[in-house]
Order: sequence, then C-alpha cells, then structure tokens
Amino acid sequence: MKAVILVGGEGTRLRPLTCNTVKAMVPVLNRPFLEHMICYLRSYEIRDIILTLCHLPDSIRSYFGDGSKFGVKLTYIVEESPLGTAGAVKNAQRYLDEPFFILNGDIFTDLDLGAMLAFYKQTRAKVSIALTPVENPTIYGVVETDAQGRVRHFIEKPAWGEVTTNLINAGIYLLNPEVLSGVPQDTHFMFEHHLFPQLLDKGESIYGYSSEAYWIDIGTPEKYLKLHHDLLKRYGEGLTTQYSIHPSAQTEGKVLIGSECHIGPRVRIEGPATLGPGSRIEEGAQISGAVLWRNVQVGRQAILENCIAGDNCFIGSGSFIPQGSVLGDNVVIESKSNLPPSSRIWPGTKVVKH
Ligand code: GDD
Ligand code: MG
Repeated sequence: MKAVILVGGEGTRLRPLTCNTVKAMVPVLNRPFLEHMICYLRSYEIRDIILTLCHLPDSIRSYFGDGSKFGVKLTYIVEESPLGTAGAVKNAQRYLDEPFFILNGDIFTDLDLGAMLAFYKQTRAKVSIALTPVENPTIYGVVETDAQGRVRHFIEKPAWGEVTTNLINAGIYLLNPEVLSGVPQDTHFMFEHHLFPQLLDKGESIYGYSSEAYWIDIGTPEKYLKLHHDLLKRYGEGLTTQYSIHPSAQTEGKVLIGSECHIGPRVRIEGPATLGPGSRIEEGAQISGAVLWRNVQVGRQAILENCIAGDNCFIGSGSFIPQGSVLGDNVVIESKSNLPPSSRIWPGTKVVKH
C-alpha cells in the first residue's frame, strides 16, 4: 500500500522552533519528527511513501534522500504555492490508483493501521477517517458519527456551541482515489473545509474509525514537550548514547543524552529530559524536564525547568529558564538572567540581564 504524508505547512504555531527548521524536521528524541512517522508506516509494511512538500523542502530531501537508508521508497512532490491538504494529494494523483493512506505530517500515534484498513474494507466506504477523543475539540476537526461509525457531520475548528462530541479527526485517512475527482487541479482545496463536507452533502458514505490509541499533534511547543515526556516515560530504557559524564553528576528518571555531550561535576538532570548531540552542561547546573537540541551550552549553576532550547543556544551561568520557555536557535542568555515563565525567544536573540 501507499501512503501520502502532508508536510507542506509552515508550522507557525510551533515558532520559534520552526523559524529555521521545518516542522517535519524538528527533533523528537534526537531524530527528525518525520523519521518517526516513516518508521511507523514501515512497521505496517507501508514502504511506498509520497511526501507532499511546500515550505522549505530541501532540508527534508537532503536528509531522507530516496528513503533507502530508512527502508522505504520516497517520492517528493513540491508545491509552488500551498495547495491545501486535498489540493496537495490531488497534485500526487498520478501515483495513486488504489486505496491509500493519507497522514497529516505532525501527528504521533500508535493507532493500528491494519485494524483501520480492515474496518475500511468492511464498511465499503470511499473514505475512512481515524478519530480520537480529546479534551478540547474546538482546535481540531470535529466528527459526528452514528452508532455504526458513519459520519454525519464534519466541522473544522467549531465554536464550543457547535461541539457535539469529543471525537476529532486524528489526521489519518484511507481514501479511494476516485474521490479525488471532486478536488480541482492546481487550486487551494482542503479535505476539512471542502471535500469532506461536500461528499457528505452528496450523500456519499464516510466512516470514522475511532480508537483509544496514543495520539498527539505536535502543533504547539507545549504538545511538542509533552510528546517527549510521554515517549521517554514509555520507551525511555536504553536510550543513552556515548557521552562523558562526571562521576559526581546525577541523572534521575528517563534521560536521553545525545552523542558527544559533556556533563560536568555536580550537574543534576531529572527526567524526562533530552540533551541533543554535542551539548555541554557545566558544573552544578540543574535540568529538569527540558528538551535541548544540538550543541546547547548550559553555564554553571544555571537552572532549566520544562523548557525547550534550539540548536547552539548559550545559557549563561546562574540563569533561570522556567517552565514553558522556548528558545529558538542561537539564543544567548546572559549570566544570572531570570526569564519570565513561558517566554518565547526568537532565534539569535541576545537576552541581557535586567
Ligand atoms: N503539502 C501541503 N500543502 N501540506 C499542507 C498544506 C498545504 O498547503 N497545508 C497544511 N499541510 C499539512 C501540514 O504540514 C500538516 O502536516 C497537515 O497538513 C495539517 O495541517 P495543520 O496546519 O497542522 O492543521 P491542524 O493541526 O490545524 O488541523 C488538522 O489536523 C488536526 C489533527 O491534528 C486538521 O486535519 C484537523 O481536522 C485535525 O483534527
Ligand atoms: Mg496540526
């Protein structure tokens, strides 16, 4: 079977992490997010994967190449201007002649694709949409079904008054390519706003496949951090690679340390936490729940709590980086600075102590 992954969005809600890095390449456990999605598809023997790209396509292409290093075959389709979710798949129509999977490029799940395919065949519908329960449906596509799972309404980002269920579109579809005839060529067109509501108006059957599988969309820094915490708690054993750690340093809980990290005396790292390759943590620093990208330097006695720091950040000694702070690449924090909680610092900014 083939799968199309939609990786054309700009990832604006993940800024400042996506100022220099496309959302699909944001590291999760020190590997690009998209690599996790490709491994997930491969685990179901789905090895023929089409990537629809738009924004910053080169970094994705140069990392994944033809896919052979990852055990898959990749086809890249680059849009000149964004075609929307359905328009992007229409643009790939020449590669699609049998039912295929479509995945939003920013979801992490262990949903059983084999069971979803069996359900799709059993219902004989032209479209199946994976559904997942969430607490706040208003930021997703809400999908109302009948008791058999047949979709009655699809409302993208509804107001609270329009919410009739906590089941939302999980961003995985099974599609019969025939339905692409309803999508105009070279036009911005969305599954969520256009194709699905139009198919329902015409009386076509769409089925929702609901499950309680793990599911998260890494659309915001909070969810990006939560994905790390969840994964480290579940799969955290045996994750460390080579690094140099001082005998008086301590780690507690699930901590992933990338290659060539240096961890100085009396450093304390409390998991779940991730240190990117080449990071350097100086004497007495304390890190808890943080995600650091590559080559981050943390000065003596600095304290980092549940925050994210992009590539090459420099955090001066004695600084305090509190809960929810997000530092873009190459941010420099002067010694003894105290950032307010949930700060968003743009790449390259120098924060001076005040
Ligand atoms: N190729 C291409 N071209 N990809 C696109 C385009 C485009 O013009 N626009 C968006 N995408 C990709 C994004 O990169 C992302 O992987 C996916 O389509 C969904 O876009 P988001 O911008 O992340 O949408 P969302 O999170 O607000 O909502 C979508 O996902 C929810 C689940 O996470 C919708 O599908 C909702 O209905 C759904 O509940
Ligand atoms: Mg999203």
